[in-house]
Amino acid sequence: MKNKTTVLLVEVLPKVAQRLRNFLEQINYIELIPGNITNSEIAIETIRQTKPDVVLLELDLPGMNGIQVTEVIRRDNPVTQIVILSEVSSAETVRLAMRAGASDFLNYKNLNFEELESVVERAADLADQEKMRIAYRPPTREKPVEEEKDLPKLGKVITVYSPKGGAGVSTVVANLGYSLKNLNKERKVILIDLDLQFGDIGILYNQITNRSIMDIAIRVQNLDDELVENVIFNDQPTKVDLMAAPYRLELDEILTGPVASQIIEHMRHMYDYILINTNSYITEATLSTMGISDLIILVGIQQVATIRSVRSFLGLASELGFPRERILLVMNRFDSTSTITSKKVSDMININVFHTIPLDPKTAEKAANLGIPYAFDSSRLEISRSIFSLAEQVRNKVAEKEKV
Ligand SMILES: Nc1ncnc2c1ncn2[C@@H]1O[C@H](COP(=O)(O)OP(=O)(O)OP(=O)(O)O)[C@@H](O)[C@H]1O
Ligand SMILES: [Mg+2]
Repeated sequence: MKNKTTVLLVEVLPKVAQRLRNFLEQINYIELIPGNITNSEIAIETIRQTKPDVVLLELDLPGMNGIQVTEVIRRDNPVTQIVILSEVSSAETVRLAMRAGASDFLNYKNLNFEELESVVERAADLADQEKMRIAYRPPTREKPVEEEKDLPKLGKVITVYSPKGGAGVSTVVANLGYSLKNLNKERKVILIDLDLQFGDIGILYNQITNRSIMDIAIRVQNLDDELVENVIFNDQPTKVDLMAAPYRLELDEILTGPVASQIIEHMRHMYDYILINTNSYITEATLSTMGISDLIILVGIQQVATIRSVRSFLGLASELGFPRERILLVMNRFDSTSTITSKKVSDMININVFHTIPLDPKTAEKAANLGIPYAFDSSRLEISRSIFSLAEQVRNKVAEKEKV
């Protein structure tokens, strides 16, 4: 059975405090620390003495505000998870709170029980993980992080991108990931969702999770395999691992370029293939990831506007110094009867079409609705055979790179 999670409530408004207490009392694994704490000094003192697993902390406290208190507490209490409470929540405040080390942010204005329950559960899980990490790794051991790693695996990073939304990036990631796994079951494959806005890789595998790359991003200074493993989901049928997109859009600024590449570089030691799902809107994290990618799969469709956007992207890529041979143009939803042939595309933008995936809306839609990649569920169809062939070519390309 789960140990009790100790929770401390620091709330100035009596009515809000009472409502939160009523909610918390309904969660059976919670042990609420008694007391009526309404200012920052007593809050810090009580937290230091009682070392709660979770603190629900009002933002608008007399004296130091909730964010400043969070900074002080998180500095030397890695287990204690802080959820900031506020009547208002601007994106900027949420960001500042997370930067200070809060694990979540709750707006209590229209708060319902389910929302509180899920936020507290997540914070309790993070506290448990932190306890386990400390138990496994006593702070006295002064071993450089580098030495802890097993033999380097040096996995390949493949970023899938399209300058046009809806071209099929997520579908390609979901199916190519499974196909690479299928080529060699011994290989470890992970799909990372960097589409911070509409990430749906989890949905395409019928896996819903509230863990995401952000849980790593906010703890990047303590990056190790265990921290990464805690946010990964393994899809049992396909044996593919997934790292979901964050559920809070406000966090995008935390996943800076250097943070994203640090996380991905670390994961090269854990996986053979790391596939990255992206949004057409380019972020700093996307660009940094592309910069360290072994391959960029550029997804196009037979539309003049999209092809123009592909050309603009290629211009940007060459400005940024991404080697052209690392970029593969894959035309998705390819209709062989269209007047926009592969040759026409190549002539328009001066890059060969590396591969085409046929148009098959029925299969693609069914797979998306069921949350099962079509390559897994309908392996004999032309669309699946095409993605298998892409996987083989991708495998050979990245292996080829190794030889050079
Ligand atoms: N080969 C295909 N044939 C027909 N339809 C497809 C094919 N591949 C993907 N689709 C469909 O196209 C739509 C967009 O696909 P998907 O969500 O993968 O694109 P995306 O580029 O990730 O989009 P977004 O920009 O919204 O993230 C989905 O409805 C999907 O089922
Ligand atoms: Mg997508």
